[in-house]
Amino acid sequence: MRESSGQLKQSRELRSGAAQRSPAALFLRQFLSAPGQIGAIAPSSIHLARRMMENFDFESVRAVAEFGPGAGVFTQELLSRVQPGTKVIIIEKNPVMAAEVRRRFPQLQIHETSAEDIADVCVKEGLPAQGGLDAIISGLPFAAFPDSLQDAILGAAVSALRPGGWFVTFAYYQGLALPAGRRFAAKLPRYFRTVERSRGVLRNLPPAFVYRCST
Ligand SMILES: C[S@@+](CC[C@H](N)C(=O)[O-])C[C@H]1O[C@@H](n2cnc3c(N)ncnc32)[C@H](O)[C@@H]1O
Repeated sequence: MRESSGQLKQSRELRSGAAQRSPAALFLRQFLSAPGQIGAIAPSSIHLARRMMENFDFESVRAVAEFGPGAGVFTQELLSRVQPGTKVIIIEKNPVMAAEVRRRFPQLQIHETSAEDIADVCVKEGLPAQGGLDAIISGLPFAAFPDSLQDAILGAAVSALRPGGWFVTFAYYQGLALPAGRRFAAKLPRYFRTVERSRGVLRNLPPAFVYRCST
């Protein structure tokens, strides 16, 4: 099968050892080759990563998944907070980003697939297909996704979480001007029992805020 130009660039990136270069440059190149999948020109800031993890009771988190780690900003923050023995499941669809996360965190198993497949990934990790996760941290660019993909991922996330589990994701203020960003905001209360919006994180490019939802 012929590779698309985006896939060709990804193969070249993997062969040339992209991991040796700066995560910001890597991120930008991946954005240019697959803008709808990466959804941002730069990795999130440490300030956004901290806001994502705020108010979590990490002592009670036994199993957590991260969707779309990109270059691993949230992964690093997550690993610095989880208890020893907590299961950390990482799903990253882009092979170049997945290679970068593997390089940075060799102790983690990275599942190179789409977040919609979380049930299968949980089973591979020895968890039940449904209700086995305490929390999901999402770095996915939902405002760049079509409606059907937003629904597929949110539905799969809700099934994978235990009752009372947490789904945390972020959005850019500019995304609220996009129809897909507004549709995403409007559909969260249909999937989750509670939905809260954090204060803004201005020290991020672009400025963002966090949705913190519970099942
Ligand atoms: C906006 S970037 C965020 C990266 C990182 N979390 C951060 O905040 O810097 C989105 C990431 O989600 C990944 N991604 C996009 N669609 C995905 C999907 N359906 N399943 C898993 N990962 C996906 C992209 O490859 C990219 O690494």
